[in-house]
Amino acid sequence: MRRFIPSLLLWGTLAIVNGKEFKPIIRTESTSELFERSKKIEVIGPTIFPKPTRYLNESAVVVVEPAIGRHRPDKDVVMAYAEGYGLPYYICFIDTLRQTGFDGDIVLAIADYNLLEAHVLDYLKEQDNVVVYIHELRCFTSKGEHSPRIKKNGQLDIFQMCQLHDVYGWKDEDGNVIEKAEDKRIGRVVATLRYEWYWIWAQEYNPDSWIMLIDARDSYFQTDPFADVPRNQGGLLYFFGENTEATRLGKSTKNANWLRRSYGEGTLQALQEKPTICSGSTMGEQVAIETYLRAMVNEWDETDIKMTGADQGFHNYIYYSSKLASAETIKRLVVWEQGKGIINNLGALRTKKFEEWGFYDTETSDVYNWDGRLSPVVHQYDRDNHLHNHIVRERFKDMKNEWMKNHNK
Ligand SMILES: *[C@@H]1O[C@H](CO)[C@@H](O)[C@H](O)[C@H]1NC(C)=O
Repeated sequence: MRRFIPSLLLWGTLAIVNGKEFKPIIRTESTSELFERSKKIEVIGPTIFPKPTRYLNESAVVVVEPAIGRHRPDKDVVMAYAEGYGLPYYICFIDTLRQTGFDGDIVLAIADYNLLEAHVLDYLKEQDNVVVYIHELRCFTSKGEHSPRIKKNGQLDIFQMCQLHDVYGWKDEDGNVIEKAEDKRIGRVVATLRYEWYWIWAQEYNPDSWIMLIDARDSYFQTDPFADVPRNQGGLLYFFGENTEATRLGKSTKNANWLRRSYGEGTLQALQEKPTICSGSTMGEQVAIETYLRAMVNEWDETDIKMTGADQGFHNYIYYSSKLASAETIKRLVVWEQGKGIINNLGALRTKKFEEWGFYDTETSDVYNWDGRLSPVVHQYDRDNHLHNHIVRERFKDMKNEWMKNHNK
């Protein structure tokens, strides 16, 4: 049975809980008291987060442009930082999304030209409404010397610190760029830096467009994720939890370290029993996502953590501490329990086979929510041998072969 616990979920519009205006809306319920915010670490303000351009002056604007495609402001959009993967990863992500009937924008940042895997550019160029940013990151070696982006064992190094120069700047009255800005930050790992890309792209959409931020490497789609989202909510934001039986913030060494190193032992103690909310999968109306992204970039500025993955610490902290709670532009924030919302985070479920958990059909390779409906988005499919093999050994091969065949390669 489902229970609706509005006090947890409705922010900024509490009046509608107690009074006449209250209307349950499709897919805005969650059932877990576990996601209750923590009083112990409550942040009283700030509710206005500075823009990522805070180190530049007021007249700085976004000057970076996509290498492929064009944003359509009135569309829904899926955004991903997808740097350096092989062709099948892009095909699986984009084709499964298009097969659901989704016709909005897909926005990606990929690696610089010289780091792209074979055929990736050709494939992306022929897609409709895929907007691609190809921008050179300026990075450092582990000794702090300037360096291009580094590959290790065929993969781009996720621990490398990088700067994002030349994305902002100044334009003259005719809109011509007169100067580009240096990144004044010391350098960030790409998993942290991607939130700034998301923020830059979010500027291109209307306030009521829905935006999904998702890890492209380990996600694919089964049904249209935007099909039933409530429209014109004035700032609805969806977060997605990981399984609460399998993990908690304090139980996972990585999550515990991200919180401890960013916020100290006290914050970790206060949050150790809380369910983990995944930072790799978030959705919302543009007006709410834009604020959330400012908060995420700002969190790195305010802490002193350089670890890759720290963004998940920020994500959990800004939620459980109520730091987002009174932002004007986030009217409501719903945290979906694992397997109950649009994005199904499977990461924590590796403790036994997906088949044994009962949400995975090994015959069809379909992944379900706990209510027996197909999960619109399957995230972290690689945590189960059967599903991983199915996707990477079978589906990837088929998709790649088909593309090669159609292109006489
Ligand atoms: C902001 O900085 C740019 C680049 O240095 C400069 O051209 C512009 O005049 C400055 N604007 C203001 C309002 O200070």
